[in-house]
Amino acid sequence: MTAPVTTTPETAGPETAVPETAVPETTGPATAGPATAGPETAVLTATPGPLRIEDYQDLAQRRLDDQVWDFVEGGAGTERTVDANRCAFARVTLRPRVLVDVSACDTGTELLGAPLATPVGVAPTAYHRLLHPDGEVATALGAGAAGALYVVSVFASRTLEEIAAEAAGPLWLQLYWLRRREVLAGLVERATAAGYRALVLTVDAPQLGRRHRDARNGFAVPAGISAVNLDPALMASAHRSDAGRSALAVHTAEAVDPSVTWADLAWLRARSELPVVLKGILTAEDAVLAVQHGADAIVVSNHGGRQLDGAPASLDALAEVVDAVGAAGCPVLFDGGVRSGADAFAALALGARAVLLGRPVLWGLAADGAAGVAGVLGLATEELAHTMALAGRPALPAVDRSAVVLAPGPAQGPPQGPVHGTAQRTAVGTGL
Ligand SMILES: Cc1cc2nc3c(=O)[nH]c(=O)nc-3n(C[C@H](O)[C@H](O)[C@H](O)COP(=O)(O)O)c2cc1C
Repeated sequence: MTAPVTTTPETAGPETAVPETAVPETTGPATAGPATAGPETAVLTATPGPLRIEDYQDLAQRRLDDQVWDFVEGGAGTERTVDANRCAFARVTLRPRVLVDVSACDTGTELLGAPLATPVGVAPTAYHRLLHPDGEVATALGAGAAGALYVVSVFASRTLEEIAAEAAGPLWLQLYWLRRREVLAGLVERATAAGYRALVLTVDAPQLGRRHRDARNGFAVPAGISAVNLDPALMASAHRSDAGRSALAVHTAEAVDPSVTWADLAWLRARSELPVVLKGILTAEDAVLAVQHGADAIVVSNHGGRQLDGAPASLDALAEVVDAVGAAGCPVLFDGGVRSGADAFAALALGARAVLLGRPVLWGLAADGAAGVAGVLGLATEELAHTMALAGRPALPAVDRSAVVLAPGPAQGPPQGPVHGTAQRTAVGTGL
């Protein structure tokens, strides 16, 4: 079901660049500070525009070329983990409390020392100039307008310094472990100098997932768009289109070191004072190892279903990880399938300190540049505040496990016996 979109940024395509220095006018209800509850107020003041995050998806699809669309939407293998991420949220039931003062619902939080207006942030995604000519600078402007954290991908198509110059909110830099360690060390130095506040090492991609859509399309990064923070010589294969192969898979095999182990983390830690966050943890065992090896935070993520097809839905892995490291005080972030403030609420209730949006931010960027990014983040934050109000949880500490029930999912976790199997089939039938 698609909600009617009365006024959309139809005319603002990638061609209509948002001025880099402007604070974007949002098409959605972006907020500059912690959102307040007032559902009535929200209805009265909402400007016409996308009503749901998926409205931005529709706009983006109309704007993007099929290959880029496939690159954004696609996952690994059968894409069952992509689907699982979404279906998991359909198994969540919220447990509302009533007669609680919800006249002001505060979405403000703090992460690794930085205050944030919203716990909804931007996941690292590569090559934003595929979506909008201003690329990551537009994303930084949009995130700043929403008071959100922005994790910049090492495959950003604008320089770390250009992005930092426009960012109004905290930036973290995501890294893959490159074979050429001197390149990695150089990135860490530049990020530190430019004011990035944490390093996020993605640990679920020793090889690229087998993304059939990209392979069929012979997808390669078009000339004119590149990972400008890396040596062009290191990036050549990412631009070489070859029928039946993803250039990104070829490039990853060349550039990323698949031999890295826990012991190597000490090397990264020794390069910088910045906190180190590990992204792509899905088990209690790895969460414990992460803390033992000095991780300052963890991101529960299956890379949006783009890596190991058959990995659990991120939401199904969340409580296990939180339980394993919560006592150690290690903040756990979450991504994978979040498409509304109610989804964000569910992940926060299961123990996430923040949730990151991957594809939705790209939809906003493609739809309307910085304003679209701010719109997506603002909409998610407003919906979160609304859910907090109706669930009787006016501040994030009150969004705890008592606020949700997550029913068991299909074929996730250890075998549970026949009763579980029946419930699983029901859940699939009602999936999204
Ligand atoms: C087009 C695209 C590019 C991505 N690039 C990166 C990347 O460069 N580094 C990274 O750690 N994760 C990357 N991811 C994964 C996201 O950080 C995130 O884990 C995932 O998108 C979350 O799921 P969601 O898209 O359902 O929100 C990418 C995801 C997409 C869709």
